[in-house]
Amino acid sequence: MAFPDQFILELKQNNPIDSVMSSYVSLIRRGRNCVCLCPFHSEKSPSCTVYLDSDPHFYCFGCGAGGDVITFIMKIENLDYVEAIKFLADRAGMTMPDEAKNNEASRIKARVLEINRTAARFFHNTLAKSPDGEKGRRYFAERQLSPATITKYGLGYAPDDWYKLSNYMRSKGFTEDELVTANLCGRGRNGGIYDSFRDRVMFPIIDLRGNVIAFGGRIIDGSGPKYLNSSDTPVFKKSRNLFSLNFAKKTDEKRLILAEGYMDVIAINQAGFENVVATLGTALTQEQARLMSQYAEEIIIAYDSDGAGQNATHKAINLLSEVGVRTKIIHMEGAKDPDEYIKKFGASRFKQLLDKSGGAIEFELEKCKNGLNVDTDDGKIEYLKRCVNVISDISSPIEREVYIGRLAETNRVNKDMLLQQVEGTIKRRINKAKNQEWTEIRTFQKQYKSNPDSYRHPKEFKAEVGIIAYLAANPDETEYVSSKVSPEQFVTEFNRKVYQVMLEKIKKSAFSDIHSLQSEFSADEMGKITEIAVNSKDVNINKTAVDDFINILSSSADNSVDIKDMSNDDFLKYIQNLKNKK
Ligand code: UTP
Ligand code: MN
Repeated sequence: MAFPDQFILELKQNNPIDSVMSSYVSLIRRGRNCVCLCPFHSEKSPSCTVYLDSDPHFYCFGCGAGGDVITFIMKIENLDYVEAIKFLADRAGMTMPDEAKNNEASRIKARVLEINRTAARFFHNTLAKSPDGEKGRRYFAERQLSPATITKYGLGYAPDDWYKLSNYMRSKGFTEDELVTANLCGRGRNGGIYDSFRDRVMFPIIDLRGNVIAFGGRIIDGSGPKYLNSSDTPVFKKSRNLFSLNFAKKTDEKRLILAEGYMDVIAINQAGFENVVATLGTALTQEQARLMSQYAEEIIIAYDSDGAGQNATHKAINLLSEVGVRTKIIHMEGAKDPDEYIKKFGASRFKQLLDKSGGAIEFELEKCKNGLNVDTDDGKIEYLKRCVNVISDISSPIEREVYIGRLAETNRVNKDMLLQQVEGTIKRRINKAKNQEWTEIRTFQKQYKSNPDSYRHPKEFKAEVGIIAYLAANPDETEYVSSKVSPEQFVTEFNRKVYQVMLEKIKKSAFSDIHSLQSEFSADEMGKITEIAVNSKDVNINKTAVDDFINILSSSADNSVDIKDMSNDDFLKYIQNLKNKK
């Protein structure tokens, strides 16, 4: 949908991109612009630039994300165009133009949120005061949850009935389709609907804005999976949310505890640690790791002490180190999970566990002993080999030295020998990586044959980009350019679409700059378009240059590069070049 230009202009003025972005990343001034670590991919040195000129926008040279403040919010908050506008309008205290409120997608989202809130209240009231809730009350009492905790988390109980919730919700004016969309009801073979959660204690999942976005339900007895979680809905994406982050983010703590499930989080929280979260029935994702890194410098992993928990710990360590947070791991003995540990040994012993938690390397080295008897020669040799592998993963030579020294001492083996082994392993890995690079090139060669587009026509590609950039800077020239070259003459599909949409917008006077294309393209596509604008900023494209570009596209000559004749080294350079350009 279209918003009045004036509204968008004011929206942007009231939401300066640097001030908006600085709630997500820390910006470093660099002359007139700023740089930051890109929030859209993991990196250790900043490759995202924020341009603060007359057309404020960001662009990441690492992953190609880019656009204005609206695109930024679309991407980082995972919103569509209209929602992003609404988000920024709220932020700046502006009122939305009327027609926007009728947007269908936002209407459905608002409905689903209302359904969730109403259902959460229904489940909670059932638990708190209905005769139906007796079973749930007994269950939580057995698990030693206090009434205060039950209220704080808004816990509930879904009655042992196929229709109680749906009947109630219908009486509140929600339609069957809406209830199915919200994932609280399923549709039966006869076409009617039934309650998805039955005879389960209910855990509402609440986002940072206080909305109930989904539910988890634990079975009390009976059959079926132990935990049932809402699948993704218009307001919920499992992989992007964390249970209890709404409480954890309010603390000033720079460390977060990561537990495996709902009950562990609630038990830890009830024991006095507010800074605890869990994933929602899936393994930790990269998005969740990044989300946590926004709130914490250090993450203490408190997964179950069984094999599955330890494997999950290993994976979480890797993901978390990729986003640059320190990890520590608690070492629990005598209990299978934090909930059980706290019940058995109390909150203060759990606090000691947290304080004593070891680093990731200690955890990995300890794990090397699994399944081995290190008192035998064979066991010890295998153990040391595994340790060498772990130490070879450490990037800092000083750190490697420290661990090698410790390992040599406790196992009474020669330190230089271990050092040699580690260095050998590192060398072998580098060679392997090189081989992999060549495999990649060969794959690329194959792809090139089936997807020639921009790779095949580098000259045309450059000409297209030039024309788009020129039009963006000189919309008055549209008539001239469009009379000389039509969209059909564009060789690459994406640029053709950009050109076509630009011509349409300019004709309707709905084009002020490149960001006017936003309503027609996804956030990722806007990244590519912004790149075009950024890259052509410094090269002044004049009319002569544009005429050249037009000629390239109008001439029927085939300018495609033939890679068959290239040597491997030339080819490597060629694709490096393309990758940099991309
Ligand atoms: P656990 O079985 O370890 O959970 O699963 P827990 O919290 O200790 O459960 P209690 O103490 O028996 O009540 C950990 C998490 O894995 C997900 C849930 O999110 C759970 O909290 N899970 C587990 C499922 O999604 N489905 C299942 O069937 C089981
Ligand atoms: Mn448990």
